[in-house]
Amino acid sequence: MKTRSLLLLITPPFIALAWLLLAGDPSTPARTAPADDSKPPARKPDVVYVPTPQFIVDKMLEMAEVKKGDVVYDLGCGDGRIVVTAAKKYGVKAVGFDINPERVRESIANVRSNKVEHLVTIKEADIFTLDLTEASVVALYLLPSLNVKLMPQLAKLKPGSRIVSHDFDMAGAKPVEVYRTSADPDGWDGSEHRIYKWVVPWEKDPATR
Ligand SMILES: C[S@@+](CC[C@H](N)C(=O)[O-])C[C@H]1O[C@@H](n2cnc3c(N)ncnc32)[C@H](O)[C@@H]1O
Repeated sequence: MKTRSLLLLITPPFIALAWLLLAGDPSTPARTAPADDSKPPARKPDVVYVPTPQFIVDKMLEMAEVKKGDVVYDLGCGDGRIVVTAAKKYGVKAVGFDINPERVRESIANVRSNKVEHLVTIKEADIFTLDLTEASVVALYLLPSLNVKLMPQLAKLKPGSRIVSHDFDMAGAKPVEVYRTSADPDGWDGSEHRIYKWVVPWEKDPATR
């Protein structure tokens, strides 16, 4: 018998219950990585957190033509809204990565409150260290320079994989579609939003190099 189980047996029941509630039940491991509230990011995030409005999230996934069997990655997942929406709306597996432990904690809470733990995994990671080859759809809301920096990793995605980027292009790669809207059903703001879509392997665009 493990020491922890032994201690639970000889500890008064109310203390054992409190301990279990605080420590969590080791027999049901979460699919999501634990995040320490107090822990600062391993390094400064490359871009600050700004959430994508929900109506743009919906449009990004629609443009990506998410279908059964897809695996959706969000690189810099913020509060996890893109991966949660992919799981809820399309029933697909999705993985969100963020370098900021606070965002990871928010994403995990979002995954749990939407009850999609069986489909969504949240990982604390620097997106520039990742192997992306398991993904068939990649969502981005970063910066133009960061999209370009990701190109060597994105180029290794399986042929036919879709990349969708909120607001920012990827110099040197010709999008197959660019969506623009100023409509804002959520009353978020009046500014224009763009969504760029590429399909792997993308066509080179020498004009933007
Ligand atoms: C503009 S927000 C987008 C959030 C979310 N994807 C959305 O569209 O709502 C960018 C996110 O990228 C994260 N981030 C910045 N640099 C990162 C890096 N090198 N690796 C992982 N995440 C990063 C930030 O912490 C932030 O949450």
